[in-house]
Amino acid sequence: MEKTLVLIKPGGVQRNLIGEITARIERRGLKVVGLKLIHADRETVEAHYDEHRERPFFGGVVSYLTSGPIVALAIEGENAIKAIRAMMGATNPIDANPGTVRGDFALSIEDNLTHSSSDPEAAERELGLWFPTGTF
Ligand code: CDP
Ligand code: MG
Repeated sequence: MEKTLVLIKPGGVQRNLIGEITARIERRGLKVVGLKLIHADRETVEAHYDEHRERPFFGGVVSYLTSGPIVALAIEGENAIKAIRAMMGATNPIDANPGTVRGDFALSIEDNLTHSSSDPEAAERELGLWFPTGTF
């Protein structure tokens, strides 16, 4: 069993896609074991995207993630990390396959609707950041 983090970014919440995205995850057979709607502070988002600190899009993605409410989901299941990444689709929605969240609902890389952990180390770090009390 693996655990992974999904964030539904502000655009996903504004477009009322919380249910759609969560339903897809549940239908796949993965379990929601933590869930909260929050308006994230800059410090948490900067720590979340620490690996991208030197990249030109860092300021933009941090501003976007703090621009409105987001949903943080802790997801558990067999091969959850890879399964979720595949369901969300390529980072740039133009390259994302139809049938993926980004391929079905997004058009721009700046508003690609979700984050999901890339590997087990990232998952552990990110779950600790967004669910510090370990409510799952
Ligand atoms: O989210 P994912 O792991 O697929 O992509 P990433 O390469 O780790 O980038 C993190 C996030 O930064 C992306 O999801 C985009 O929201 C944003 N980004 C961007 O705005 N412009 C880029 N050229 C690359 C990433
Ligand atoms: Mg990433």
